[in-house]
Amino acid sequence: MAFEIIATGKAVPPHRVTNDDMAAKVDTNDEWIRSHTGIGARHFADADTACSDLALEAAKQALIMMTGDDREEALKEAALSLDMIVLASATTDYYGCPSTACLIQDRLGAKNAAAMDITAGCTGFIYGLETAAGLLGINPGRKRALVIGSEILSRVIDWSDRGSCVLFGDGSGAVILEKTDAPSQGPDRRGLVRSILGADGSGAQHLVIHRGGSRDPYKTDEVVAVSPHLAMNGRAVYTFAVKAVADTITALLEAEGIGIDSVARIVPHQANARIVQAAGKRLGIPDEKFFLNIEEYANTSAASIPIALDELNRSGGLKKGDLVMTIGFGGGLTYGGNIIIW
Ligand code: UT7
Repeated sequence: MAFEIIATGKAVPPHRVTNDDMAAKVDTNDEWIRSHTGIGARHFADADTACSDLALEAAKQALIMMTGDDREEALKEAALSLDMIVLASATTDYYGCPSTACLIQDRLGAKNAAAMDITAGCTGFIYGLETAAGLLGINPGRKRALVIGSEILSRVIDWSDRGSCVLFGDGSGAVILEKTDAPSQGPDRRGLVRSILGADGSGAQHLVIHRGGSRDPYKTDEVVAVSPHLAMNGRAVYTFAVKAVADTITALLEAEGIGIDSVARIVPHQANARIVQAAGKRLGIPDEKFFLNIEEYANTSAASIPIALDELNRSGGLKKGDLVMTIGFGGGLTYGGNIIIW
């Protein structure tokens, strides 16, 4: 039994905001942003677009790839074949209830699918893949899962902090994970073969949306001076991230008993190109091994890895049988990685 990614999709809002556009609003400049992060642009959703809108579009793209048929009836039929929808996000449509996965379930007409959200910061998609595979594996009646990472980070940007506001963008990526008869071990193994998931909650305050939760709810008649936003201790997250990336790659290689040469591509969470380069340097891994598209999309949190997988997949950058490693880190603090035989 194997858990194979049989299709991918992505959705990014059309409104592209360059570093120069940011500099018109905040005290920053293109040179600083590029040299410190590798970011050249980000895409921001318009005011009417929520997390589920981008997620729905990414999910549709994945379902169309799965069936090879973009007609409305084919899409409806494909949605009925889903047993599970898992959506990872830090910027869901609603606070706590209902889950955004349930909104997708309804809008796709995926009547046979259970649906739930996952909160694991930027590692959410990695957690989501492992969760979906576990849920498919434990029940013979389940065959197919839709796993989505989707974010509208522009809605929680702290515009008073130039160190963080330039980092984030909006977007969504989705994959269809299917339980197949292919082997999950041995030379012909396929699909998601290994994951490492971890957390260090002692760093929870380094990436946090302080207001609005049960710890610090809004009060009746309170006048809110600043809308809810993501507060970040950039230095602390940077240090955590470089170690998390290096340690997770090492742990995955050791657990598999393979060297880096056996890995076709590493798809890291796209938070900062410097984080990836520093971890790569520490391990002696050449930059070309890492797939980076941060220059165009900035940090889209839980969406960054599935967006990258879709771009690689559609551009022919992944061949059947390639060993792909995903590596993530982020709010929680969380970290993790998957090994997927494409
Ligand atoms: O998904 C996980 C989410 N978060 C992350 O991955 C973030 C991890 N952290 C980082 O990527 C880096 O810490 C940052 C990119 C956020 C910051 O880079 P840094 O090299 O650690 O910069 P810094 O905060 O130490 O600031 C250095 C200088 C400061 O000026 P002074 O005090 O040296 O004069 C800042 O005020 O850069 C200044 N600065 C900026 N200048 C122009 C900070 N942000 C900006 C900016 N434009 N946007």
